[in-house]
Amino acid sequence: MVVSLSRRGNVEPFHAMDILAEANRLKAQGVPVVSMAVGQPSDPAPARVRAAAGKALQDGRIGYTDTLGLAALRKAIAEHYADHYGLDVPPSRIAVTTGSSAAFNLAFLAMFDPGDRVAIAAPGYPAYRNIMAALGIEVVEIELGEEAYLHAGHLETAHREKPLKGVLFASPANPTGAVIPAAELSALVKTAQDLGIAVISDEIYHRLAYAAPDTTTLAYGSSVTVINSFSKYYCMTGWRIGWMVLPEELVRPVERIAQSLYISPPELSQIAAIEAFAATEELEAVKGRYAWNRELLMKRLPELGFSLAAPMDGAFYAFCDVTRHTNDSMAFARRMLAEAHVAATPGRDFDTQAGHRTMRFSYAGSHDDMVEAMARIERWLR
Ligand SMILES: Cc1ncc(COP(=O)(O)O)c(C=O)c1O
Repeated sequence: MVVSLSRRGNVEPFHAMDILAEANRLKAQGVPVVSMAVGQPSDPAPARVRAAAGKALQDGRIGYTDTLGLAALRKAIAEHYADHYGLDVPPSRIAVTTGSSAAFNLAFLAMFDPGDRVAIAAPGYPAYRNIMAALGIEVVEIELGEEAYLHAGHLETAHREKPLKGVLFASPANPTGAVIPAAELSALVKTAQDLGIAVISDEIYHRLAYAAPDTTTLAYGSSVTVINSFSKYYCMTGWRIGWMVLPEELVRPVERIAQSLYISPPELSQIAAIEAFAATEELEAVKGRYAWNRELLMKRLPELGFSLAAPMDGAFYAFCDVTRHTNDSMAFARRMLAEAHVAATPGRDFDTQAGHRTMRFSYAGSHDDMVEAMARIERWLR
């Protein structure tokens, strides 16, 4: 038997998922693990979303849909841009996707060829780097160092060294929670446009900012590709449903590639997601709890010697410098899970250079869990 293994398959593991698997193994043995490892809301999808899915299941037939998604969902997403941002976005520029993860595949495949150079920030969400590497795109990681977010100056410097074809950033960001202020975002997009660099903006943590209102990159031009998802604010991770807002020229290429890669996003999740925009009251209550958790961690983590390496402006992450305790955050995270039964993510996922110095704590869980996790870590460190 011959087994063929491509070089592309040799991407970094997503360590947060490995830690989650280990936490799940311990839980199955009856160990009461508190998980702060994965960026996943602990609440279910809003009641009206689940009711719509229940009704669709009763009605019976769940099938393929148009590749770019159900017309009613594309319309609901377009209306969300009018309601939330005051922007007029036609439903024809919206593509519904199987989570934002599928949207990355589609954007990278439709926008870049093997060998193209695309910039991302480090630390950053690991799937950007891993998917692009698997597709043969050259990933240019811009180390943020002491700075909270990517800005126009970073882009100019990287482009001067060797021209870039694209840039991808998230605001609020994972793992830092940092938000790019509106004026800086505007300058970043303008610089990219002046230099001929295509922009992809990951807006999956929109509606989860604590200090400033959301600004969509779409406000600065219709040539940017925006990626978003129902996973985070809308508490729908397992429903695997997201969307893209595309420049006109990219709609048909994305549709052609999606036809073959996915046929369509899941119909059940699409029917349910239409209801998500009407669940604001329920979802704002969930966000209120994140804000409460955030207050707690902003105080407790530094007290425990985990200094905050970013401002916690948005998302549901505290990104910490752990060098007071260790110079190997991967081993430290494994020991903390095994001995204190608290799971958190080592920085290596987000930054291959400096990640041994950092860890990310997700505060998307219950408040009681956060209190318990801090108490356990305190006892363990003593
Ligand atoms: C910045 C960012 N983008 C995208 C995703 C993927 O989300 P999904 O595929 O569930 O939409 C995540 C998940 O953690 C994320 O943190």
